[in-house]
Amino acid sequence: MEKTLMIIKPDAVAAGRIGDVLARAEREGFAITGLCMLLLSKEQAEAFYSVHRERPFFAPLVKYMSSGPVVVGRLERENAVEHWRKVIGSTDPLKADPGTIRRMFGASIEANAVHGSDSPQNGEIETEFFFA
Ligand code: RTP
Ligand code: MG
Repeated sequence: MEKTLMIIKPDAVAAGRIGDVLARAEREGFAITGLCMLLLSKEQAEAFYSVHRERPFFAPLVKYMSSGPVVVGRLERENAVEHWRKVIGSTDPLKADPGTIRRMFGASIEANAVHGSDSPQNGEIETEFFFA
């Protein structure tokens, strides 16, 4: 089955949205086949977002992602990557469609509540990163 990596980011964990996000994932037909809560080290956050190393938002992103506990999950279903990205919405919560997780729970373009893999290949790589 296709896999995608979900991360409930520090802002959404702090806002008490873990249960809402997991319930939504299940309601959308995903099987949650891996789940853990952890505090990412700066090195783990840098490695996970290494594709963005050259971007101006990289340093603040790493600081933010390691600023508090996150919940990491492996979600499986048909068309998992595309479907989860539809459910979470655009990167900027202000531009995300009504009803998407980022629109409902995201605080800013950086503190945008959740992560989703951006391709089936990255879904494999990213779920292996946490659930090898
Ligand atoms: P993600 O990887 O977390 O699912 O988000 P995404 O694909 O929608 O967005 P991406 O371009 O991969 O960016 C990764 C994360 O970096 C932060 N970001 N900040 N300040 C900014 O302009 C900016 N742009 C991106 C967000 O936390 C974004 O989710
Ligand atoms: Mg991305």
